[in-house]
Amino acid sequence: MAATILQSLAIAAATVATFTNPTSATLTGRNCPSRFPWETIQLTPQSLSPKDASLFGFSNPTRSRIHCQPKCKSFPGDPSWPSDTVWSRFNTTLNGALIKTIPLAAPCYRNRPEYDPAACQRIREAWSTPYLHVNDPSSAMFPLYQGRTCMPTEDPDASNCTLGGYAAYSVKVENVRQVQLAVNFARNANLRLVVKNTGHDFADKSVGAGALSVWTRGLDDVEFLREYDCGGYRGPAFKLGSGVLTEEVYKAAEENGVTVVGGECRTVGIAGGFIAGGGHSPVSSLVGMGADQVLSMEVVLPDGRFVTVNEKSYPDLFWALRGAGGSTYGVVTSVTIRAYPKIPVTTMSFVYTTSPNITADTFFAGLGAYMKYFNKFTAAGAYGYFLVVSIGPGEYLFSMMPFWANNMTKAEVTTLVNPYLNDLANLGIQVTPNITEYSSLFQAYQGSFGPENVGATDSHAASRLFPKENFKGAKLNATLAAVRHAIEGGGILVGYNIRAAPNLKANQHNSVNPAWRKATAFFILGAAWPADASDAQIQQASKTLTTDWMEKWRAVTPGSGTFLSEADINEPDFQMSFYGEYYPRLYALKKKYDPKGVFYAPTGVGSEEWYITDQVEWIPTQNGRLCRRR
Ligand SMILES: Cc1cc2nc3c(=O)[nH]c(=O)nc-3n(C[C@H](O)[C@H](O)[C@H](O)COP(=O)(O)OP(=O)(O)OC[C@H]3O[C@@H](n4cnc5c(N)ncnc54)[C@H](O)[C@@H]3O)c2cc1C
Ligand SMILES: *[C@@H]1O[C@H](CO)[C@@H](O)[C@H](O)[C@H]1NC(C)=O
Ligand SMILES: *[C@@H]1O[C@H](CO)[C@@H](O)[C@H](O)[C@H]1NC(C)=O
Ligand SMILES: *[C@@H]1O[C@H](CO)[C@@H](O)[C@H](O)[C@H]1NC(C)=O
Ligand SMILES: *[C@@H]1O[C@H](CO)[C@@H](O)[C@H](O)[C@H]1NC(C)=O
Ligand SMILES: *[C@@H]1O[C@H](CO)[C@@H](O)[C@H](O)[C@H]1NC(C)=O
Ligand SMILES: *[C@@H]1O[C@H](CO)[C@@H](O)[C@H](O)[C@H]1NC(C)=O
Repeated sequence: MAATILQSLAIAAATVATFTNPTSATLTGRNCPSRFPWETIQLTPQSLSPKDASLFGFSNPTRSRIHCQPKCKSFPGDPSWPSDTVWSRFNTTLNGALIKTIPLAAPCYRNRPEYDPAACQRIREAWSTPYLHVNDPSSAMFPLYQGRTCMPTEDPDASNCTLGGYAAYSVKVENVRQVQLAVNFARNANLRLVVKNTGHDFADKSVGAGALSVWTRGLDDVEFLREYDCGGYRGPAFKLGSGVLTEEVYKAAEENGVTVVGGECRTVGIAGGFIAGGGHSPVSSLVGMGADQVLSMEVVLPDGRFVTVNEKSYPDLFWALRGAGGSTYGVVTSVTIRAYPKIPVTTMSFVYTTSPNITADTFFAGLGAYMKYFNKFTAAGAYGYFLVVSIGPGEYLFSMMPFWANNMTKAEVTTLVNPYLNDLANLGIQVTPNITEYSSLFQAYQGSFGPENVGATDSHAASRLFPKENFKGAKLNATLAAVRHAIEGGGILVGYNIRAAPNLKANQHNSVNPAWRKATAFFILGAAWPADASDAQIQQASKTLTTDWMEKWRAVTPGSGTFLSEADINEPDFQMSFYGEYYPRLYALKKKYDPKGVFYAPTGVGSEEWYITDQVEWIPTQNGRLCRRR
């Protein structure tokens, strides 16, 4: 099976190598943006001494052949691991930007020199807030995949804090030259390379044991281009450093009277993993995906070169970098995206539960009543974010949190949702909707979404995109039955009624999973276990999620897939599920731009050629060596 996939991929790789690449062309126009000042600070071959060049210099194609690459990436303690002198030399070359990893919760452990009960207390209190992890060079928000080797704890002696899946070193990059040096060093020294921005990724793609990490959070420039006029697009745009947080861009958009396509979470890196993975937004039902809005990107390639990537320059990479995930084809340093005029947003929220009058059957009929309108609501440009969860034996809760109508007044929304609310009432489900009209996306977002909880190890998520056919006729019943099965089993449904709206003004020729273009729902399904669960319990819960609950979801959505940034790290046939029919082309581009495998991310394009040692079935971690399968 795996061998067949690899064979067909090799054929695809051979095909892509022949298509031409007009890399010298650039976008032209009356007002094309320039690079950020720190993007003009670049590595030149002349700026390195011969000795430094052999460590940190650019790719020399004649030096190392692909077929004689070592089996595993170098690991701390190996004879091939760089000496302290070399690390120190690297730090000097970086102007002091090298950070040796101290696990975030180290102050909680007596075995660590950082042991400090007061500091530990502060970390324990803030652990579930995203900012703590966003502002740490190596921490990520899903510690399960890091290996749980240094969790905040009350008992400093219960275990020892170790690095686990955290990177060995990070470079806090502030200019392109430092990114180039890190990529070159990782390639030349056969180090595992990771790119960490905020650490939001559901599969912890931004950590890795024994890795050198490029920490991009410091690249946080936001520049508003009121009259962008370049390469055929004329209108407002933003040029964003890849470390910018969504809330920072939303704020800038509000100040400038425009709307940008960002996610629902405040601290996701909009120009980092969000756009790289496609990016879904409360405004996607109106104007499309985050990746559809990109005009141009600046990228450090696996060979260390710094290039501009857009429709004219490296068009094949431009296609791949918009949707197929981060940490695969290079390090993006900045992204220019379209902005839209300011739009009003009206939200609606309500909650209902099973009760003496609302049986479980009625409750799920109510969910079916909502699904019946999924295609209508998304066609109207609306988005819905909701929760369905078991709250006791045979008892359930539905929370609309909220229904979000773009570019609509309260009166328009009332007209839109009344048939649905009437259907609920006819079932005996009376709700009291709270409908609020806002003047902009930013205002609606401030009023709707609180800071999210992260850092827990008591649950695991999977997800699926549901095509619009699933919400029509007999298929709707089958879909509802599959969803009900999971919720009755204890699954937590975080649902999005959303579409990737077709948009002629945007550029939708990108690698966003084609399943997005057919979907009107994206459902995340969580399996939870007690905080003190054993590995066996975690394995059982994860297995039930992936092979029972999700199997039924896959069975009712044949040929669909899911959103790679919020997905199950154990997803079977992830190539088809995360990338669909684009996988062979994406794989070929991976071979073209990263033939030496400098970049790796779990479930990333080409990752099937690698494995991590020391794994426990169903609880994959990045706490092991990264080795080639071959
Ligand atoms: C609470 C929560 C809410 C979310 N809400 C949404 C939502 O509404 N819509 C949505 O679309 N997604 C959402 N996501 C998913 C989110 O888009 C992804 O997790 C995304 O990958 C995060 O990107 P990041 O840069 O913030 O995080 P990171 O974890 O730091 O990076 C994610 C991946 O991108 C890579 N990467 C980051 N920056 C770069 C770069 N500059 N160059 C190359 N590779 C890079 C990393 O190596 C990693 O593989 C949510 C996630 C969480 C945890
Ligand atoms: C790198 O250099 C800076 C500045 O001299 C120093 O503060 C930092 O600790 C060094 N990093 C490492 C890993 O030694
Ligand atoms: C922590 O490490 C020390 C030194 O290696 C060892 O003696 C001790 O038993 C370890 N403690 C725990 C709880 O594993
Ligand atoms: C439940 O139904 C009964 C009979 O129809 C009605 O009298 C009662 O008010 C209902 N209770 C609630 C909480 O809706
Ligand atoms: C919002 O609605 C107005 C008026 O109906 C329309 O002109 C405008 O194009 C809409 N904006 C978007 C982004 O769809
Ligand atoms: C309605 O929702 C808004 C926005 O979330 C909130 O400020 C307001 O308090 C809510 N009103 C009621 C009656 O719950
Ligand atoms: C769907 O199921 C409901 C109740 O379970 C049933 O009344 C209805 O006829 C079914 N619809 C279709 C199209 O199968």
